[in-house]
Amino acid sequence: MSDANRIRIFDTTLRDGEQSPGASMNIAEKVEVARALEALGVDIIEAGFPIASKGDFDAVRAVAAEVVDATVCGLARCNDRDIDRAWEALEFAKSARIHVFLATSAIHREHKLKMTREQVITRAVESVRRAKSYCADVEFSPEDAARTEVDFLCDVVAAAIDAGATTVNIPDTVGYAVPAQYASTIKTLFDRVPNIGRAVVSVHCHNDLGLAVANSLAACAVGARQVECTINGIGERAGNAALEEIVMALRTRFDYFGLSTNIHAEKLYPVSRMVSTITGLSVQRNKAIVGRNAFAHEAGIHQDGMLKERSTYEIMRPEEVGVPKTDLVLGKHSGRHALRDRVAELNYRLTDEQLETLFEDFKTLADKKKEVYDEDLIVLIEKYMTDVPAHWELLELQTMAGKHLTPTAMVRIKRPDGVIVEDAAIGDGPVDAIFKAVERVTGIAANLRDFSVRGVTAGKDAQGEVTLELEVESDDRSFRGRAASTDIIEASALAYLNAVNHIATRRERDTPREVIGRPGAGA
Ligand code: KIV
Ligand code: ZN
Repeated sequence: MSDANRIRIFDTTLRDGEQSPGASMNIAEKVEVARALEALGVDIIEAGFPIASKGDFDAVRAVAAEVVDATVCGLARCNDRDIDRAWEALEFAKSARIHVFLATSAIHREHKLKMTREQVITRAVESVRRAKSYCADVEFSPEDAARTEVDFLCDVVAAAIDAGATTVNIPDTVGYAVPAQYASTIKTLFDRVPNIGRAVVSVHCHNDLGLAVANSLAACAVGARQVECTINGIGERAGNAALEEIVMALRTRFDYFGLSTNIHAEKLYPVSRMVSTITGLSVQRNKAIVGRNAFAHEAGIHQDGMLKERSTYEIMRPEEVGVPKTDLVLGKHSGRHALRDRVAELNYRLTDEQLETLFEDFKTLADKKKEVYDEDLIVLIEKYMTDVPAHWELLELQTMAGKHLTPTAMVRIKRPDGVIVEDAAIGDGPVDAIFKAVERVTGIAANLRDFSVRGVTAGKDAQGEVTLELEVESDDRSFRGRAASTDIIEASALAYLNAVNHIATRRERDTPREVIGRPGAGA
């Protein structure tokens, strides 16, 4: 496949994706995700917005030091401070890109920037030149391009390319575009911008109308050769275009698009799980490609067709994207070798030490539950993917609840300083009582914004996975927690403590976040 027909995959899970409410990741988690993206075959990893905070800066620097097979990109507004800081974070990357952005639509020019068209072009040109003085690979984004007057958009894009931009990205920042119109804007750039051949045209679509993937694909069909996207489509508001959907649409409909990517599709499912575990953002059941029901055939007529010939109702094979078979995998007599092989088959990479702990966890689970399925194993493995130190550790839990009883919980917890403390509380139910008891012990006050339990597999002895979101008013942000156990009361306590540990880690680590405009966040 010639390079002309290859779509570059620019992943922005660590930057735009992290702008999803409650989806913050710490540095070690970002490096873990970056490694997985590199192994997935992503071409460019946008690792963060270095000026935004010390945490963002350190994360971009850490990713830049780690990744060798992908270009590492840092975002900057069009001003010297942002660009200098971006380069400081990127300078040791094997392959670096600075991505500068400036809003161009009339709404943004008038209300946010208070700049004329001429001033916008001048600032864009100066900024691309400054970025270029550091780095050969420079991307320019006219923010809110999809709502920018098309003649002016052509002028800005031409000026940015003249100044040295090697990629021009056309963001639909507020998810307003529709496929035919967006494609026509991209086509206009090819028709009218004289130097367009000197840059790669990129697309970056938000999903406010549910059209991010459709818009991105429509643009590829008329010549765009880079797509900006995120794993599971996470991102600001309704999110960004989902990487897995873009990749599988191009691959499954190669007959139509004639375009390919460098992505190793069989790693899509494990990476999706990893990002979901680390961010705490669950994937909806019916989500294309990586949702739990994506390959489930329920209707009898479909099942009958599938048995006769899979292609009657199946356009992709689950194994193509790394979805595990739900076969029984291991039982209590299975040994370390079987476990190691299964982990590798599921596309996870663990150290020997982690494999040893996993083996212990697996044996404990196999004692409670006769049949251990792939999904059970994945939930155990994912514990190693979130790098939240166990500041607070649950040692003991007792609850009492019943029809005529006041729900009560007692917890014994190890504090970060090693001291063991106990407390009890009553609540509206046993889970509420646990949360109140934990709050008394940790002194971390939070509102529960979201709480859900899902069965990891079928069956009465299945593990229950609890996902929750805590909102901390004093920090003005929310944190997610997740845990699984065959006892859902215990899973609830562990998930709550997991979120509390996220809060404690964030408080310990972060210098105050500079309040600046996030793209698309109305600033
Ligand atoms: O949505 C947007 O406009 C952005 C730009 C920074 C590319 O995220
Ligand atoms: Zn965006």
